[in-house]
Amino acid sequence: MRKWSKLTRLKLLALMVALPVIGLGAATLSYQPARFLVATGPIQAGHQDISCQACHTDAPGTVRQQLQANFRYLVGLRVHPVDFGYAKVTSAACIVCHERPNERHPIYRFQEPRFEMVLTRLDATSCLACHAEHKDERAFVEPTFCRLCHEDLTLKSDPLDVPHETLIAEQNWQSCLTCHDFHGNHPANVPTRLRDAYPLKSVTDYLANGPSPYGPVKTYEARKE
Ligand code: HEC
Ligand code: HEC
Ligand code: HEC
Ligand code: HEC
Ligand code: HEC
Repeated sequence: MRKWSKLTRLKLLALMVALPVIGLGAATLSYQPARFLVATGPIQAGHQDISCQACHTDAPGTVRQQLQANFRYLVGLRVHPVDFGYAKVTSAACIVCHERPNERHPIYRFQEPRFEMVLTRLDATSCLACHAEHKDERAFVEPTFCRLCHEDLTLKSDPLDVPHETLIAEQNWQSCLTCHDFHGNHPANVPTRLRDAYPLKSVTDYLANGPSPYGPVKTYEARKE
């Protein structure tokens, strides 16, 4: 036994624990109707009629290849594990239906080097940094997150009664979403007087899945498939 390093023994232990789990997983997978067991929570507003497969696609490779790759990972012959059964959901799935020409904050823009620091705090290059599925919420951001990118904002001629410069000097970051939506998909007029802004509560309720303070109309509806 002495020839085995502590690490190898740990890996073998992990393997002994993992094998029955993997076996169970494979058994579940080979039984098609149980493939997605049960969704882990409520579906996003508007997603009632879209299929599970619109987001959940098969992981690359056959089940046997996935098992082999993960076995090799466990015994140290592979650097990374692979997705098992179905692939991790990425923004690519969302964009198929939600891409639109008027997007104010398109995720690809934030790959520019100037956002490197910001991304360490919020990965704005991924829909899933702000949106989840199977949770009763529309977006899980703090309403103050605009601050991460707009601290240096100056307007040539500011239409507001309390100018943006003042709002920012006062660190009033929760005001932003009380006038602007984030994606710019609601065509409603943006208020110019602070007293006409939507109540903060209506914004936080909306983020949590309530009705939209910016009105029900959207410039672009998402594709249904
Ligand atoms: C709009 C996209 C979307 C749709 C539609 C969707 N899901 Fe999901 N689902 C996700 C995301 C995102 C996760 C988080 C884990 C991940 O990234 O794979 C997830 C996780 C899961 C998980 C947990 C898996 C794990 O590894 O934690 C199950 C089970 C699941 N979904 C089942 C379903 C079922 C059943 C349906 C259809 C009724 C469905 N999903 C529809 C996006 C979606
Ligand atoms: C098969 C197409 C499809 C896919 C894939 C899809 N969506 Fe949707 N989504 C819709 C439709 C249709 C609606 C309802 C109409 C609308 O809001 O434009 C919707 C609504 C939403 C809403 C709520 C909109 C509102 O105003 O209430 C959010 C948030 C959302 N989707 C995010 C996502 C994210 C994040 C993903 C990827 C994980 C995703 N969607 C994947 C079609 C899709
Ligand atoms: C940095 C955070 C962030 C990222 C990244 C992000 N969103 Fe959002 N999203 C929000 C916030 C905040 C709202 C609520 C304000 C609004 O309606 O614009 C929202 C609202 C929405 C809505 C409902 C309003 C509408 O525009 O129809 C949809 C749909 C949506 N997001 C889809 C997506 C998709 C798809 C992606 C990736 C391509 C994405 N979001 C990336 C923060 C984000
Ligand atoms: C990850 C960085 C980032 C975050 C977070 C962010 N923005 Fe932006 N925003 C940008 C960039 C980049 C632009 C485009 C500026 C340009 O083109 O010069 C922009 C543009 C805008 C515009 C002007 C759009 C136009 O078409 O003129 C508004 C309004 C805006 N953002 C509001 C917000 C609000 C409100 C929030 C918070 C809810 C927010 N932003 C969060 C990066 C960000
Ligand atoms: C009382 C409403 C209100 C509040 C609060 C507000 N804005 Fe604005 N904002 C406007 C209006 C109106 C405009 C000009 C018209 C437009 O772009 O829709 C504007 C313009 C902008 C622009 C575009 C600037 C350009 O050069 O064209 C950005 C970016 C922006 N706001 C970000 C923010 C951020 C970040 C906050 C939070 C600190 C904020 N706004 C708070 C109403 C508001």
